[in-house]
Amino acid sequence: MTSESGSPRGEQTATQTAPYLVISGGHRLAGEVVVSGAKNSALALMAAALLTTDGCRLRNVPDLTDIRTMGAILESLGVRVRPGGPHTLDIDARFLAVHRAPYELVNTLRASFFILGPLLARLGMARIPLPGGCAIGARPVDLHVRGLAAMGAEVRIEHGMVEARVRRLRGARIYLDYPSVGATETIMMAATLAEGETIIENAAQEPEVVDLANFCRAMGARIRGAGSKTIVVSGVPKLHAADYTVIPDRIEAGTFLTAAAITGSTLRLAPVIPDHLGAAIAKLRDIGLHVASVRPDCLEISADRPLVAVDIETLPFPGFPTDLQAPFMSLLAVSDGTSIISETVFENRLMHVPELNRLGADIRVRSGHAIVRGVPRLSGAPVTATDLRAAAALVIAGLAAQGTTTVNGLHHLDRGYDGFAAKLKAVGARIERIAPTPAAEADPNCEHPPSEPARSVVAGADPAPITAS
Ligand code: EPU
Repeated sequence: MTSESGSPRGEQTATQTAPYLVISGGHRLAGEVVVSGAKNSALALMAAALLTTDGCRLRNVPDLTDIRTMGAILESLGVRVRPGGPHTLDIDARFLAVHRAPYELVNTLRASFFILGPLLARLGMARIPLPGGCAIGARPVDLHVRGLAAMGAEVRIEHGMVEARVRRLRGARIYLDYPSVGATETIMMAATLAEGETIIENAAQEPEVVDLANFCRAMGARIRGAGSKTIVVSGVPKLHAADYTVIPDRIEAGTFLTAAAITGSTLRLAPVIPDHLGAAIAKLRDIGLHVASVRPDCLEISADRPLVAVDIETLPFPGFPTDLQAPFMSLLAVSDGTSIISETVFENRLMHVPELNRLGADIRVRSGHAIVRGVPRLSGAPVTATDLRAAAALVIAGLAAQGTTTVNGLHHLDRGYDGFAAKLKAVGARIERIAPTPAAEADPNCEHPPSEPARSVVAGADPAPITAS
């Protein structure tokens, strides 16, 4: 077992084989954090690169297990995925020939379902395993499937497989019952090469949808209205090469804002697009934090007042993001008064509550709402992450807890935060990643890395090498 600095290892068992974090809480942070590229943009953009026979270059790609898994899925289809420099991926789908995605990989990454639309548009057929439910909810794909069917695809779901065929997709007017990010992205990608015009009504307005539209436009697609409720795509016969930079990760930035807030720190974050963080910044101000842009791409947060309770309801963008619900719960756990957090996007995204309570929080769940009674302080304990954002929330709580917190289940964290512990350490957090003997972590949930981690496809990306995940 190795420790980076010989710091206390927390109360781990002698048989511990998976990596974990040890956090000594109660220390202020200071400095500037470099925000990585957005995971959920990069994953969609990687799928969109299948839409052209020319090579594409994606820059500012975060080094994450999810990105590696997506790279492995693309390679299984005959696509060449290579690092093109730090945080840069070159994707060449000229020899895309395979229309079936392997179950073992799709099962580990729901976002891999994004390849359905591009495969159908390029090859006229696709066979993708149903991604299934996962820890945070059932996560059906009916809206993706109905959208493609409206565009003329014959879609059958049998034996856990989605099988779709079409001679050429044709434009359609598609109303989404819910502004699903994934369904909007699937339909938008498919529509770029369809015959005629596709109108997506009640589309998702998330910044990642806009980023995908911008990348497709850089490839020659004709898309209007991305970022509004109605997206219009006029199909073109062919897309071409593009060199494109992924937007900064608003969820990573929001998570660091909660890290600063809970530790009473002043911290700068860059690069960020402040408009992408509107709801989170508004809530932080209500809680008592000072948040200001010090440069157009740099936010500074400072804490000089007591924190007070606020209510939060997660909603599609521009509402409060579900992906920041868990880190904000950690913050509200030590804010004065009672906060009600309502998770409306995913039906099972409050699993971090018992773990936060292990750290001394006072949170009860009633009918999908978390009732958070602020406590004066948290106290360190061993805890285990159940999903990606829960992992971040436990680290945030550990930064404020008295004593030592050990966070297990880091394969969740590694899916979505590039060098999280190293970035926190660089701004003064007392946090160590302990890497026992490498061993695969078994977890039945969906979004987690395969037991054999796929090799890194992003060169020189991680300031803190992941020794086992
Ligand atoms: N939904 C349906 N039918 C569908 C699609 C979605 O009922 O066909 C429901 C879902 O079950 C869910 C709601 O609609 O209750 C929202 O799902 P959405 O499709 O918007 O989410 P997603 O595309 O599956 C992406 C992000 C999530 C993020 C959500 C919401 C990626 C790879 N994932 O998921 O990110 O929480 O949008 O913003 O883009 C994360 O990064 O931790 C994460 C879970």
